[in-house]
Amino acid sequence: MKVAVSFLTSNNIKEDLLKLDKTSTTYIHVDVMDGKFVEKTNEPYEEMKDLSLSKKYDVHLMVEDPIPYILKYKNLNTEYITIHHEIDKDVFSLLEMIKKYGIKCGIAINPDTDINVLKEYLDKVDLILIMSVFPGKGGQKFIEESIERVSKTKQMIKESGRDIIINIDGGINDKTISSVKEVDMVVSGSYVLNKDDFEEGIQTLINI
Ligand code: DX5
Ligand code: ZN
Repeated sequence: MKVAVSFLTSNNIKEDLLKLDKTSTTYIHVDVMDGKFVEKTNEPYEEMKDLSLSKKYDVHLMVEDPIPYILKYKNLNTEYITIHHEIDKDVFSLLEMIKKYGIKCGIAINPDTDINVLKEYLDKVDLILIMSVFPGKGGQKFIEESIERVSKTKQMIKESGRDIIINIDGGINDKTISSVKEVDMVVSGSYVLNKDDFEEGIQTLINI
């Protein structure tokens, strides 16, 4: 299972990114928020742009208008850019735009969005991000219904024969990780960031 650590709750982004770069996390998960799609704002690009880390970024755009952010984050060491199904934009053409820059694209789906909408993305994305909390802030409680949503998504992907990975985001910790072992990748933020030793938290997630 791959791990992507979110630094959304970090108080010292540069220092924590340098620390995370030395851990065994697979990716660093970058939460971007515009104060429109979600209430809060979070835009760590300035702190990130001069760092050259060996870890790749898994960028999660919780924004209404992804284009300016795609244009920025494509310049970093970015493996995935994920946008939300729920935005009021032509999501398909945005996914194409991401791919055009040689970056893998993902579609994120909120906890209250019908899981069947994912069918229309199966031939278009590399990653599906199941939100297991409502997007907008770190440290929220895992929504149990997400477990069944992962199973349904897994079945959908299997039937499509496509090579798509499932990622889950929100409330992942040493208690909830065992119920989401079906996914290919987990995002964990506050659980890892709250530890002095990030590696200890990451190892716990990997080994449970
Ligand atoms: C939620 C963000 C998540 C979140 C993860 O809006 O997309 O990436 O920060 O943090 P935890 O693990 O604390 O729920
Ligand atoms: Zn996220």
